[in-house]
Amino acid sequence: MSFDLAKLEADATAEVQEIKDLESLEALRVKYLGRRGIISEAISGLSQLSAEERPRQGAQLNNLKNTLNDLIQKKTEELKNTLVTGTAKDLFDITMPGVSQDLGNIHPITLVIDEICSIFVSMGFHIVEGPEIETEFNNFSALNIPLEHPSRDVFDTFYINSPAVDGQKLLLRSHTSPVQIRAMKIRKPPLAIIVPGKVFRPDAVDASHSFMFHQIEGFLVDKEVRFSDLKGLLYLFAQQVFSATKIGGGQDIKMRFRPHFFPFTEPSAEVDICCIICKGEGCSVCGRKGWLEILGAGMIHPNVFKAVGYDPKKFTGLAFGMGIERIAMLKYGINDIRLFFENDLRFLKQF
Ligand code: PHE
Repeated sequence: MSFDLAKLEADATAEVQEIKDLESLEALRVKYLGRRGIISEAISGLSQLSAEERPRQGAQLNNLKNTLNDLIQKKTEELKNTLVTGTAKDLFDITMPGVSQDLGNIHPITLVIDEICSIFVSMGFHIVEGPEIETEFNNFSALNIPLEHPSRDVFDTFYINSPAVDGQKLLLRSHTSPVQIRAMKIRKPPLAIIVPGKVFRPDAVDASHSFMFHQIEGFLVDKEVRFSDLKGLLYLFAQQVFSATKIGGGQDIKMRFRPHFFPFTEPSAEVDICCIICKGEGCSVCGRKGWLEILGAGMIHPNVFKAVGYDPKKFTGLAFGMGIERIAMLKYGINDIRLFFENDLRFLKQF
C-alpha cells in the first residue's frame, strides 16, 4: 500500500490556508494528526509494505507529520494574533443590535409634588421638610388638640412602641400639619412655607384609602393675613394645577369653601372644586354632588401661636393641607389609589 504523500501534503496545506478560526483548525489537526487521523492510519499501514519500501515511506510520513505539525502551529499563532490585533470587525459583529436600556420615568406622585411645590415657590413659599416620626406635642398638643380630647379620635394614629422622648410618646405623623410647629418654633414671622412629606393613618386599603399618603401642607404667617388671602391663594393654586390638565381642558376652575372644623384653624373650611369630569352636573366620580373635595384649610388658631411663642394679637396666619394622591387622581382621571403603589410599569409608564 502506498500513499500519494505529495498530494496529501498539498491537500493539507490548502486546507490549513482556508481556516479562519481556532476551532476549525483543531478539527483539521485531528483529521490529519489525531490518533485515528490520516497520518496515523498511514503509519499503521506501513507494516504491509516490503522491507525496502517501509523505511523510505516511514521517513517520508514522519517528515510530512512534522511539516503538518509546523504548519498548524504557525496557523495557530497567526489566528491568535489576528484576534488580539484584529479590528473590532474581526472580534464581534458590530451590526448586531445592542441590549437596550429601559429609560425610567418620574412617578406620577413625584410629578404632582414637584408641580405643586413649584407653584407655591413661584408665589414666594419656602420648602421645608420634617420627620415622619413625630412627638405627640408636635402632632397634637401644640396644634390645639389636647390629650384625651375627642378630636384625637379623628386621627387614628400609629403610635410607636418605644420609650417616650422628653415625656412625649412618638408616633407616625398622622396629619399634614406638625411641621407648622417645628418651623414656627425656630423662625419668626413673616414666613411662608410648604411641607411635602408623608402621612400615616391606620386606614384599611381600598380604592380611595391607604395607610400612607403624600401631603403638601402650606402656611403663611404675617401681620394682617386674612381669610381673603387664603381664598385668593388657593384659587390661584387650583387654576394652575387643574385647568392645564387634559381633563380640566383649560376651563376656569370653580371653587367653594365649606365650613368645617379643625382644632388648629379657626375659622376652618374644606375646599372643593367644581367636578372637572362632569363640570358640576353630577357624576359617579363626584358622587352626584358636582363638587370634589381637594383640601382642608383655615386661619391658624391663636392657641397654635401661643404654643410656639408667637403673639396672637400681633400675627395672623393661614394654613392648608392636602393629599397628593387625591390631587393626582383628579388631575389624571385615576380611579384607584392603589395604582400608585403597585409598581405596575404599564401604569407608571403613562406619565
Ligand atoms: N392637617 C389637616 C389634615 O391632615 C389638613 C389641614 C391643614 C386643615 C391645615 C386645615 C389647615 O387633614
